[in-house]
Order: sequence, then structure tokens, then C-alpha cells
Amino acid sequence: MKTLTVRISGPLRASIFLLASMLLSGGCLAESESGDAKGTSSTVLITGANRGIGLELARQYAADGWQVIGTARKPDEAEALRESGAEVMQLDVTDQASVERLASDLGDRAIDLLINNAGILPRMGSLDEVDFDDYNRVLAVNTVGPVRVTRALLPNLKAGDGKTIVNVTSVLGSIERNTGGGFYGYRESKAALNMFTRSLASDLGPHGFVCIVIHPGWVRTDMGGTSAPVLPRDSAAGIRRVVGGLSHEDNGTYWTFEGEALPW
Ligand SMILES: NC(=O)c1ccc[n+]([C@@H]2O[C@H](COP(=O)([O-])OP(=O)(O)OC[C@H]3O[C@@H](n4cnc5c(N)ncnc54)[C@H](OP(=O)(O)O)[C@@H]3O)[C@@H](O)[C@H]2O)c1
Repeated sequence: MKTLTVRISGPLRASIFLLASMLLSGGCLAESESGDAKGTSSTVLITGANRGIGLELARQYAADGWQVIGTARKPDEAEALRESGAEVMQLDVTDQASVERLASDLGDRAIDLLINNAGILPRMGSLDEVDFDDYNRVLAVNTVGPVRVTRALLPNLKAGDGKTIVNVTSVLGSIERNTGGGFYGYRESKAALNMFTRSLASDLGPHGFVCIVIHPGWVRTDMGGTSAPVLPRDSAAGIRRVVGGLSHEDNGTYWTFEGEALPW
């Protein structure tokens, strides 16, 4: 779907895409924002959905009529996720057996939208503070995790109409924006996730996919801490607005939750 031919930046862009996609039929996820017109709703799978931004995304998509599959490392402890109406499935993105079990349990079920949200932020502010176990772990969760999950669920995504992959990155993964240093391991993990997403976009774009990365803001979660200015509900609403307005022209782009373009 080609909704616009001019480049417009800022929140206005996402709003225009949303409006245009509500007016036009046919396209990516926009028409199924509230479930599609035939009464069968779209399916989203969100990793790391038991708390933080992932939980809020699950709540909002479920409230909007989507079929939500929310993953948790410990499903038995994912009460809030279950209460959101989501179907809870076990997934540790670093564990290949867990990823394969998820794919096997899903069978040939179609997934319209995959949100690779699970992530960790080890506190390694200076080079002296780098712990190599933590360094390997952040790459395993934030970078290799989305690769594992995306590859395993590709048949399900190909079976879906939405064909959209959203990788939750960070502005800290922007090489151009990195003037402050620090955040060792985390920055690298998200920069590599960004690169993975560009490769996915190249490989899958010709097959109708839209693959993007999005920075959720500095969000008041366990990771973001209590000083973070953005509430999970506003971050999730912004992410949903951007995703709902995506067109094929947006394949391989880097966004903020407010609908602005970020430099790589
Ligand atoms: N908060 C921010 O300010 C901020 C800013 C920029 C980007 N982000 C990104 O936004 C995403 C969500 O962050 P958040 O603030 O919601 O973090 P959070 O509150 O710390 O939640 C992280 C989620 O990831 C899950 N997770 C961690 N390791 C996992 C693994 N190995 N397998 C599967 N799930 C795993 C956690 O599950 P458990 O409960 O089992 O640990 C939890 O559900 C992350 O990718 C993060 O990098 C956040």
C-alpha cells in the first residue's frame, strides 16, 4: 500500500498514515487495527510480555480485539499477562529448545505481527565495568534472541496477512546518535539488532513483509527506572500507532514511538 509519496516527519506522519489507512482498504496491518472486517481478528505475538512495555502492548492489543500471544519465561508467574486476555506461552529467547517448542506448539497458526520486545540492560557504564558474561548475555538476549525467534516463526508469519516484524530497539543503538558512549554491551546489542532488521527487510520485503525497529522512549519500567518520563501505556500506544500506520514503503526503517525517524 502506498499511502504517501512525500516524506513527512514527526508525530504528524504517523497520524497521517493512520488516517490514510483507515480510509483506504488493502494493505499491511492498518486495516486490521481493530480486527478485520470479516470478524476474524489479527494475531500478534509479543516476546517478554509478562511485564513492562510488552505487558502494556499485550493489554492494548487485546483490548482492541486482537488475538494476543504473549510469551513469558515463567508462564506460571505471568498473572497480569493472563488477565489481559492474552494467551500465555513459554519462551526464553536464549534457549533454542524453548524457541523450537514455541514454534511446534504454534503449528501452522498464522501470525500477522511479531514484536520482538524481550530485552535486558546490564549496567556496564564504563569499559572497566564490562563483565564478559554480562556482555555475552546481552547479545544473546537482545540480538541473537530476535534472530532465533524470527527464524523459527517465519512460516507462521508467512501464513499471516499482516507480514510485519517489529524489533524493539533503543535510540542507544543509533551509531550516529552515540555522542555519549557508555552503556557497553547494550548499545552494541541494539545496533546489531538494527542491522539484522535491515537485512530482514531486504530479504523479506520482496515477499510482502514490513520489518522495522522502534525505540519505545525512556519508559518507566523495571528497565527504565522510576525517573523515566514515558509511561508504559503511552509508549505502547505510540508503538501501536506507528505500527498501525506502516506501509511497504516503511520497510527497513528506524522509528521512535512518537513516529519520528531515527538516524542509523
Ligand atoms: N524501558 C526503557 O526505557 C527502554 C528504552 C529503550 C528500549 N527499551 C527496550 O524495550 C524492550 C522492553 O523493555 P522494558 O522496559 O519493558 O523491560 P523490562 O520491564 O525489564 O521487561 C523485560 C522483559 O523481557 C523479558 N526477558 C528478559 N530476558 C528474556 C529472555 N532471555 N527470554 C525471554 N524474555 C526475556 C523479561 O522477562 P522476565 O520477567 O522473565 O525477566 C521481561 O518480560 C527491551 O527490548 C528494551 O531494551 C526499553
